[in-house]
Amino acid sequence: MAGPGGVAEGDLEAAGLRLSVTGEVATVSLARPERRNAMTGRTWEALAHVGQTLSDSVRIVVIKGEGPSFSSGIDLNMFRPGGVEGETSLVDRIADGSADDAELDTVIAGYQEGFRWLRRPDIVTVAAVRGHAIGAGFQLALSCDLRVLADDAQLCMKEPALGLVPDLTGTKPLVDLVGANRAMELCLTARTVSAAEARELRLAELVVEGAQLDAAVDDLAAALLAVPREAATATKELLRGAPGRTLEEQAVAERRAQAGRLTAMAAQAARG
Ligand code: CAA
Repeated sequence: MAGPGGVAEGDLEAAGLRLSVTGEVATVSLARPERRNAMTGRTWEALAHVGQTLSDSVRIVVIKGEGPSFSSGIDLNMFRPGGVEGETSLVDRIADGSADDAELDTVIAGYQEGFRWLRRPDIVTVAAVRGHAIGAGFQLALSCDLRVLADDAQLCMKEPALGLVPDLTGTKPLVDLVGANRAMELCLTARTVSAAEARELRLAELVVEGAQLDAAVDDLAAALLAVPREAATATKELLRGAPGRTLEEQAVAERRAQAGRLTAMAAQAARG
């Protein structure tokens, strides 16, 4: 049966996800609390599918974890012989010769799609993080526009400590937020960042007591929804593009965006 986002509920459940949509707010829950919401390739493919099939009426997407952790990152069984149930480990496929470099590139690009859509300008994405956000879990939080942390949150980019690199689109937002040197220090020591430090490093917009996390996210969603959608979309597009533009280019982009807004306002006024 298709769920609220057009994805079969059984498929989402098998991928360790749950989706609920209330009005203009969709909540994607990582739903394997007994494994601290460890994620697999199937989780990321399902996440990509949620993005592709999200109802046009949704304006806010909240990503949260069930249980005490946001996410313990990749399911470590993905690196062990046999992989996880229903999924062949990439390590096995490399070993048996069925995954060459081109195939690996395609598979990882597919996983990254689960993270990339969270930057879409027509929605605002919010990570609600309690407890651990490790590796892929930290990258998922970084892929969201805004992060609200419970005071027990612990962020860790663990990939280098496991002999890997962070490859789920988390390195760019990390560098954009904390700078290349701090990003290097965090990744190359794989140390854990507390909620208090995360706020100092601009990795969190808000840190609240654990019991207040859901209410704080609800309040933020309500404030975001109070701004007209088209203005929010155009503004997010401007802000997301700003780091890649010169001042002159950004000034041009602002003028174009404003002309679009004014034209829409004039058309609305003419309609009465
Ligand atoms: N993969 C598979 N199983 C996991 C898991 C993971 N990432 N994280 C936790 N689990 C399992 C545990 O093995 C344990 O299983 P059992 O009940 O069968 O013993 C269960 O979940 C509960 O875990 P803990 O008892 O360890 O729970 P805790 O609250 O004491 O600790 C934790 C939580 C700090 C997250 C700890 O479980 C942990 O360190 N997990 C591993 C984290 C990790 O190294 N993740 C990989 C990050 S790198 C990455 O994500 C790579 C990438 O994308 C390329």
